[in-house]
Amino acid sequence: MDLKIVAVLFSLIFRSTFAYAGGLSLNFYEQSCPQVEYIVRTSLRSISLTDPTTPAAILRLLFHDCQVQGCDASILLDPESDIFQTEMASGKNLGIRKRETINTIKTAVEALCPQQVSCADILVLAAREAIAMSGGPMIVVPLGRRDSSSPSNFRQADASLPGPNIGLDATLQLFAKKGMTVAESVAILGAHTLGVTHCFNLESRLYKPEVDKIDPQFEIFLKMSCPLGSFTPNSSFIVNDPTTLSFDNQYFVNSINGLGVLRIDAEMPLDPRTAPFIQTFADDQEVFFEAFSSAFAKLSSSNVLTGNQGVIRTYCNRLY
Ligand code: HEM
Repeated sequence: MDLKIVAVLFSLIFRSTFAYAGGLSLNFYEQSCPQVEYIVRTSLRSISLTDPTTPAAILRLLFHDCQVQGCDASILLDPESDIFQTEMASGKNLGIRKRETINTIKTAVEALCPQQVSCADILVLAAREAIAMSGGPMIVVPLGRRDSSSPSNFRQADASLPGPNIGLDATLQLFAKKGMTVAESVAILGAHTLGVTHCFNLESRLYKPEVDKIDPQFEIFLKMSCPLGSFTPNSSFIVNDPTTLSFDNQYFVNSINGLGVLRIDAEMPLDPRTAPFIQTFADDQEVFFEAFSSAFAKLSSSNVLTGNQGVIRTYCNRLY
């Protein structure tokens, strides 16, 4: 089928299947903080000048927030004591970075609009800016989320977050629970066009009894990049695709060529349910952007607190 027709079909399917979660709206801060999108944009841009890996970290941070108890900024809460451990204590959150960046942006927002904008909305806005400033689509996101007034814990995070070796069936189930189609599930994993994977997240794929089949040449490369014994320090990592700072469709091209870093990245081009979408997104970046935008809207609206639920935290890292 002609790719342009495919694109139109995708866009019709995506638009018709998504309605904003109750309580979210496109003009939520029109009266109370009309500058919020500008403040988030300029703050993130200036922070990213000193560390260009910030957009990747923020995008993953959003996913890990939304996955545990919904998009409620619970991931930003600091552990309060050794006994009561919040979700950051989960091993599945290894490699999560830049939580403090959202605090910094929140301080700038509070200075102009005290007690109006939730940390959960700031995180969503920062993630969509991260995508746009890296060359990806500018996604329209509804706002009005509230922050959790109770933290989640590491057990909840352990149960809700995918491990580095999750397979395709479990992945499709995970995204289906957020209302995503198979095309959207494939598209959202295109987030791995940004950023890095630390060697400790590859240990079992490379050195434990076979997790999945890895292209032999690529396996040699991965093992040279992550030799046994390199797993503890945060410094050993490999890039998720060669254009690690650009939000583009290179991730799909890589996957087709057997260069998927994680098991899920490698399995999708081999399975008949997902392979056609991998090929379409590799062939046409605009189609990928359209599907990704639709998937991002669903991800960032999942299980949100709205209206009188939850709170607006003043400091994103603490409840009071
Ligand atoms: C089955 C689902 C997924 C699995 C198993 C998975 C797994 C991982 C793992 C193991 C890493 C490496 C982390 C590190 O070592 O520092 C990673 C990185 C990353 N993931 Fe995912 N991920 C999934 C879905 C997503 C989704 C839905 C998004 C965003 C919408 C996302 C965005 C990212 C980004 C941007 C990075 C790079 C982070 C950085 O450079 O700091 N991932 N992912």
